[in-house]
Amino acid sequence: METMFQKQIYLERRQKLSERVESGIILLMGNVEAPMNYPANTFSFRQDSSFLYFFGLQLPGLAGLIDIDNGKTYLFGNDIDIDDIIWMGPQLSIYELAEKVGVENTASSDKLQEFLKDASEGGRKIHFIPPYRAENKLMLEQLFSIPAASLKEKASVGLIKAIVALRSTKDKYEIAHLDEIQDIGFEMHTAAIKMAKPGVYERTIAGYIEGIAMSHGGGVSFPVILTQHGETLHNHEHGNLLQHNNLLLVDAGFESAMCYATDHTRTIPVGGKFTQKQREIYQIVLNAKNVATAAIKPGIPYKNIHLLAAGQMAIGLTELGLMKGDPKEALAAGAHALFFPHGLGHMMGLDVHDMEDLGENYVGYDEEIQRSEQFGLAYLRFARKLQPGFVVTAEPGIYFIPALIDKWQNEKTNEQFINFDKVNEYRNFGGIRLEDDILVTETGCRLLGKKIIPIDIENIESVMQNC
Ligand code: GLY
Ligand code: MN
Repeated sequence: METMFQKQIYLERRQKLSERVESGIILLMGNVEAPMNYPANTFSFRQDSSFLYFFGLQLPGLAGLIDIDNGKTYLFGNDIDIDDIIWMGPQLSIYELAEKVGVENTASSDKLQEFLKDASEGGRKIHFIPPYRAENKLMLEQLFSIPAASLKEKASVGLIKAIVALRSTKDKYEIAHLDEIQDIGFEMHTAAIKMAKPGVYERTIAGYIEGIAMSHGGGVSFPVILTQHGETLHNHEHGNLLQHNNLLLVDAGFESAMCYATDHTRTIPVGGKFTQKQREIYQIVLNAKNVATAAIKPGIPYKNIHLLAAGQMAIGLTELGLMKGDPKEALAAGAHALFFPHGLGHMMGLDVHDMEDLGENYVGYDEEIQRSEQFGLAYLRFARKLQPGFVVTAEPGIYFIPALIDKWQNEKTNEQFINFDKVNEYRNFGGIRLEDDILVTETGCRLLGKKIIPIDIENIESVMQNC
């Protein structure tokens, strides 16, 4: 699998970025190695996604700089020395790396401070994005003499908005790549479905599917969630033995060698057959997902799609007797959030939660669509109007979270819409989430990839019972 696009793509992206930002200097810091437990023993290197988008290079210790006013682009970094070659093997020079992505000027890292000092003394605006890693915070603190704690507020809103505008709309090369890597997500999830038998440890399956991701030249796009306690939304514990009739929630994705993500969730019955109670809740989640995805098209705010899914859940849960009263009024009051306390989805691309480092509100909201303060809806990461080329996840879920049930019951929250006696019969149910990755097209949407991970009840049961 390739690790970068053609040079022309990076040239065009930087050109578009310069046009949007209009003037000044853009500084994009690449990431450096991060130690795990002693300096030379590092976490697997992950490049910063915005640096990657505009400069395409996956090596640590680089910085990209675009001098818009003078029409010049620079790559800062240090050539390796003989010691590095002995331990890490031969590497391209900074000049050769720059050439690969169409950058004409190079300089060693120590020249960056000098360059920025001259620029700022000359009264020029230097645009940077908020750093999220300690190493880059320290570096920017030193480069700009701004305390690390203030870097976020001093970051360039113009640059953030320009990057969000460009990265939100995936081009045909990105879409082709995102389509292609869905096969790996399919392989990971179908392996998990087939392995989910009583007596197997969660960690055995988690390790196996992470191994699948690695065997395809990448890794996982976020730490695997694979648990019989799906009511904990981001549960990273994998220590339990699978028990017959438990639900197993698997939320996992592949990150390609180019650092693009997949993100799917399936919830399956250990032993291969849903109980009646599980089947009923599962079908409500699936109906909500189907209603939501059928409505996705350009021009519609994703918040409305979220509310469609939530409304469908309120109808289903009322029919089942877990909620009561008018489902529309329950939805307006936010009563469904006892069961569905998170947002329908997020953008996805170079990050599984795309561009979240730039600020969730810049990615998911705008002047028109502002974040709600209502419990549940407030967690919606992405709410603004959809456009062709956007890639989003749709991931409704129903969870029975004992601590939340107790809190609402004690505080009588939305008690006119919740049948707490019935809800308490589900205290040990766990949680169900179903998630796929969706491309917004000119007229509607489609699932990414060619293969659909089993999702209908009959399909899941049939795959589990025939393996
Ligand atoms: N798949 C994990 C998440 O979307 O938060
Ligand atoms: Mn997701």
